[in-house]
Amino acid sequence: MIQSVRGTKDILPEDIHLWNFVEGVLKEKSKRYGYSELRTPVFEKTEVFVRSIGEETDIVNKEMYSFPDRSNESITLRPEGTAPLVRAVIQNSLIQQSNLLRLWYYGPFFRYERPQKGRQRQFHQYGAECIGSDYPESDAEIISLACDILKGVGIKNFNVLINSLGNNLSREKYRKELIAYLSKHLLELSEDSQRRFEKNPLRVLDSKDEKDIMITKSAPSILDYLDKESIEHFEGVKNILSKIKIDFIIHPKLVRGLDYYNHTVFEFQSSELGAQDSIGGGGRYNQLFAEFGAKQTPAVGFAFGIERLIIILDKLIEKDKLIQKPDVFIVSSLTPDDDYYLALLKKLRNMDLIVITDLNRRSFKAQMKESNRIEAKYAILLGEDEKKTNSISLKRLEDGFQQILSVDSIGSFNFVNK
Ligand code: HAM
Repeated sequence: MIQSVRGTKDILPEDIHLWNFVEGVLKEKSKRYGYSELRTPVFEKTEVFVRSIGEETDIVNKEMYSFPDRSNESITLRPEGTAPLVRAVIQNSLIQQSNLLRLWYYGPFFRYERPQKGRQRQFHQYGAECIGSDYPESDAEIISLACDILKGVGIKNFNVLINSLGNNLSREKYRKELIAYLSKHLLELSEDSQRRFEKNPLRVLDSKDEKDIMITKSAPSILDYLDKESIEHFEGVKNILSKIKIDFIIHPKLVRGLDYYNHTVFEFQSSELGAQDSIGGGGRYNQLFAEFGAKQTPAVGFAFGIERLIIILDKLIEKDKLIQKPDVFIVSSLTPDDDYYLALLKKLRNMDLIVITDLNRRSFKAQMKESNRIEAKYAILLGEDEKKTNSISLKRLEDGFQQILSVDSIGSFNFVNK
């Protein structure tokens, strides 16, 4: 038997209701905040990601699905959505048309990671990006949208961690201090962190290794190196979040795994998730447009991992409640090409009802059993008698109550509310 690729999952009909529910909330909340959907291809030229996410990040170094296509161009299955979206905004001149863009995206993403609970090689993200404002109110809007989505799907227990990486000047100053501190402990650091120290020292702060955590506990804090502009921006974000009653935890070691961030970075965490506790994250990326050769354009955004939302919701939501049961099952002893039967079927389907029929020519009794098994609201019993009198026999399956309806009165019968 051919199996699916490691780290990928089929989403089965029994789970799709939860996905549809989440997708509905994502769309609804995006609309309420005035965000429009933008869809980019699932693959891009590799340089789109190398240039933006950063050559020394885990994603670019070891997690990208990159391959030469048949004309030997290096192509990459998108590992994230921000860089492709920025590419699309520049290429389609969207920012010239409007000085503020509110955009969202949703779909599959790909990272070659070791699969575990909440971590797959094909996973799904919803992301929102607010492009064209350098003011803290845009950071606050993005964080507020994310929190509204979490509450909208019914997740109340989550933490909002925030930090500021400051502007380039502040970060450079901090980087030097951090290097000076870490170099004193270099040989005690884990192998991974020693490598990171060389290439991207801020990422050492992100290490999950216990010894690294001990060492970085006394490391200098980035918040002590922010200049006036960076402090003002961070204070502005925190002030609005407090006023709109979004609780947050300041986490000076939060640096995120992508290089394009400056100023505000944030993450949404849930203890329900175990090791992979991040439901989503994001931050401000004021330099990314310039990295792509476009005019410098301030922007801020975030993305949720949908599989992780689903893991939490699976425990919270009674999935049965999300399933829409059929309104009608037709139990018929007429032939499948009978004109009366076919006309009735058409009429019912035009009433926007969920109408199910038997396609295996089973006996009347077996069809009746099936109507109960699938928990239809009504069974419509159809035979020569009904055909002759231009009527149907309608049976409410919950209590067996049966009545005769003329075909003409079907249109005004309320099938939906029993
Ligand atoms: P990220 O933190 O790399 O940020 O990913 C966002 C979320 O995607 C994670 O918090 C996690 O829930 C989910 N995720 C990532 N990798 C996997 C995986 N292998 N399996 C399952 N879920 C995963 C970004 O991607 C940025 N583009 C977010 C952003 C938008 N920043 C600004 N705008």
